[in-house]
Amino acid sequence: MRTLIHSIKKLIQIEDQPRQWVAGKDMASLKCIDNAFIVLNDSKIEDFGAMPQMPAPETLGADAQIIDATGRMVMPAFCDSHTHLVYAGSREIEYIDKIRGLSYEEIAKRGGGILNSAKLLAQTSEDELYNQALSRAYEIMGRGTGAVEIKSGYGLDLENELKMLRVIRRLQQTTPLTIKATFLPAHALPEEFKGRQTDYVDLIINEMIPVVAAEGLADYIDVFCDRGFFTVEDTERMLMAGMKYGLRPKIHANELDFSGGVQVGVKYNALSVDHLEFIGPDEIAALSGSETMPTVLPGAAFFLGMRETPVHQMIEAGLPIAMASDYNPGSSPSGDMRFVVSLACIKYRMLPEEAINATTINSAYAMGVSDTLGSISKGKTANIIITKPIPSIEFIPYAYTSNFVESVLLNGKLVAGERVIHN
Ligand code: NIG
Ligand code: FE
Repeated sequence: MRTLIHSIKKLIQIEDQPRQWVAGKDMASLKCIDNAFIVLNDSKIEDFGAMPQMPAPETLGADAQIIDATGRMVMPAFCDSHTHLVYAGSREIEYIDKIRGLSYEEIAKRGGGILNSAKLLAQTSEDELYNQALSRAYEIMGRGTGAVEIKSGYGLDLENELKMLRVIRRLQQTTPLTIKATFLPAHALPEEFKGRQTDYVDLIINEMIPVVAAEGLADYIDVFCDRGFFTVEDTERMLMAGMKYGLRPKIHANELDFSGGVQVGVKYNALSVDHLEFIGPDEIAALSGSETMPTVLPGAAFFLGMRETPVHQMIEAGLPIAMASDYNPGSSPSGDMRFVVSLACIKYRMLPEEAINATTINSAYAMGVSDTLGSISKGKTANIIITKPIPSIEFIPYAYTSNFVESVLLNGKLVAGERVIHN
């Protein structure tokens, strides 16, 4: 069945020649068509162009759905390439500790933080965990997200890591989101391994990775390579073990210090290195010419009050930037990519075009889906946002608490929205 959306004020992020990502100066340009149409055929984008070139609706089949988008814009749905949206409960009490002055690291050292979520998760059944995650999945869809990467990492033992990964698999099967799963056993050191970090790394390598890989539950492997968490040496060992089983790295790096995480990620051809509050000339040099997407998580930096990644220096050096929500209970209890776009502009002084590239095509690359998602391109999957009537692209980050999302179509079908426009 075809869907024709016509009279679109602006069709945003079109590509005639699909690209894997956009880097450097190109991040500031976003190809658009004013007064446009788009035709979806089942789950794919079939055609688009300027209104004068629109095919006659009667040629699209008797069952074609016609949507009048007068005054509205159409853009690709967001790709959120870094989340932890499968988790149990919440951690608002620690957030009060934070308000009172404790840092993220201090809370973690007291057994709070990730270990607190791990305790809660161990007490939560798989069905309950699924139900909690499902409501978050629908929440982000309603805010314009069409693809999401989800990590394990609150299990910290084989049984509970598998429980998380199975929940992710269920979400893949039951929601219209495109979902990639990342195995993150080295997210924190479990209490019982205190003082024996190498033993935990050995367990991950010898027992956990082989089982997860054999069950086909993960696409990627992640390590929290940072001060106070896992070292570069630990990281290298785990990445090598994961890669032996076909798990490409995507790592947490340089959030708390110049940890060497960026360099080790690039060395092992990570798909992305994420967080990146601590970036200097050495990290920029390592990333230049690599196939690793530097990914910034503005929500986490905002929530924890951390320094901002020097994105301008990185863009000026010709690098691409992706941005993701980091949706998790400790450092970013929000999966709202609309807010990420606003933070990109407000806190990182990125142009709206750069922010949209960072959250669509570049974040699609950072989760391995830029062949099929992240832009309006013929043959790509029809994951799109229809906006409310808005005056300009700039209005999207500017009106940072207004909801500009009117409808969300994933795989060509309406999945969420405040209003459906039929004509
Ligand atoms: O990406 N930095 C490490 N991990 C998560 C936080 C997880 C948590 O605090 O629960 C992050 O910020
Ligand atoms: Fe994270």
